[in-house]
Amino acid sequence: MQEKTFALKGNIIYTPECGKLELHPHSYLVCEDGKVAGIFDGLPRRWQGIRVEDYGDKLILPGLVDLHVHASQYAYRGLGMDMELLDWLECNAFPEESRFADLSYARRAYGIFTDALTRSATTRACIFATLHRPAALVLMEQLEQAGLPCYVGKVNMDRNSPDILRETTEQSLEETRLWLEQSRAFTLVRPMLTPRFIPSCTDELMAGLGRLQREFGTAMQSHLSENLSEIRWVSELCPDTRFYGEAYARAGLFGGDCPTVMAHCVWSGEEERALMKENGVFIAHCPQSNINVSSGIAPVKNYLKEGQKVGLGSDVAGGAHLSIFRAMTDAIQSSKLRWRLVDQDTPALTLPEAFYMATKGGGAFFGKVGSFEPGYDFDAVVMDDAELPTTRDCTLAERLERVVYLSDGRPCAKYAAGKRLF
Ligand code: GUN
Ligand code: FE
Repeated sequence: MQEKTFALKGNIIYTPECGKLELHPHSYLVCEDGKVAGIFDGLPRRWQGIRVEDYGDKLILPGLVDLHVHASQYAYRGLGMDMELLDWLECNAFPEESRFADLSYARRAYGIFTDALTRSATTRACIFATLHRPAALVLMEQLEQAGLPCYVGKVNMDRNSPDILRETTEQSLEETRLWLEQSRAFTLVRPMLTPRFIPSCTDELMAGLGRLQREFGTAMQSHLSENLSEIRWVSELCPDTRFYGEAYARAGLFGGDCPTVMAHCVWSGEEERALMKENGVFIAHCPQSNINVSSGIAPVKNYLKEGQKVGLGSDVAGGAHLSIFRAMTDAIQSSKLRWRLVDQDTPALTLPEAFYMATKGGGAFFGKVGSFEPGYDFDAVVMDDAELPTTRDCTLAERLERVVYLSDGRPCAKYAAGKRLF
């Protein structure tokens, strides 16, 4: 049994508000009962004698948060990138996901994903499984074993997909109810409702999921306004809605009491944005996927300015890389193209802003997560930039920038919810 009170020593960096970096060279970060107790120049008297893990000159950062990733697509990341979203789903995502009906395949594929997530700097994630309940439970078991406090969704799909990857409406709702009940067995990993996107879910299914949410109080994730052909399709499928988000909202599945995250929001208009803000819907910005499947460049800087809740998503396998450091640089780079090519009034994202979205911005979905302010859940990663030699004498902020742009994304130590994972 690990002690729940200990300290890490090293160069501590975090961001308490968007655009601002806190830098604490050679300091102590104290964890008490799984929560951050504070950052100190020297170890205060009341904690004398606790275990101190001394990381020397290394960097200590909050664990990163991935607000949108498909565990079931990890096996084919880096493949099939010459297509737009809807063709890409049909040719790549759906055939791969249908394989998760086979539990031994699911165990193997999810094992590879869970190992990769464990070795990464990500401590929390909102994860899509597939529509197969037993396979989703296998993924939850593996994440629980690995000590990763994630949300996982058994996907719902009852239209517009091949026979082998489609449920009837009744089946979808019954399986979801059973899965929510079975999910009570987990303590660290939580279930979240996951209607894939509006084209995959009938009105009846959405209404049923809305009722389940009100009964169970479950969090929810889906896709929103990702791609122009998709948006056109939704307006045909739901002719009585004024905007895409309304198709979720009318089922009662668009924020409010239960934490809700929508991936992409590349093309969200004024009304959709106003409703997201009013209902506290989180936006998972997935810049790499938006480029790979040619969806566009989301106006993320504007989202931050208008006070939306925003985090980053890898969206594997639309995104090829699981690293949220990589998502930070993708977000910055695509915002520069947007500035130059689309909207000259909105400057590019800065590194501290991207770091905020990757930590406290996305972390807020999980509660007090993603910061080293007192009372926050103790999620931390230790990065060794000695592997990135330079002739320069860098400041701590510059060292963070180099780790974000250059490292392979693998920490040398990792803690989630106060527990050391390696
Ligand atoms: N929209 C519906 N399903 C998916 C998916 O698997 N990936 C992405 N990027 N968008 C989707
Ligand atoms: Fe996605």
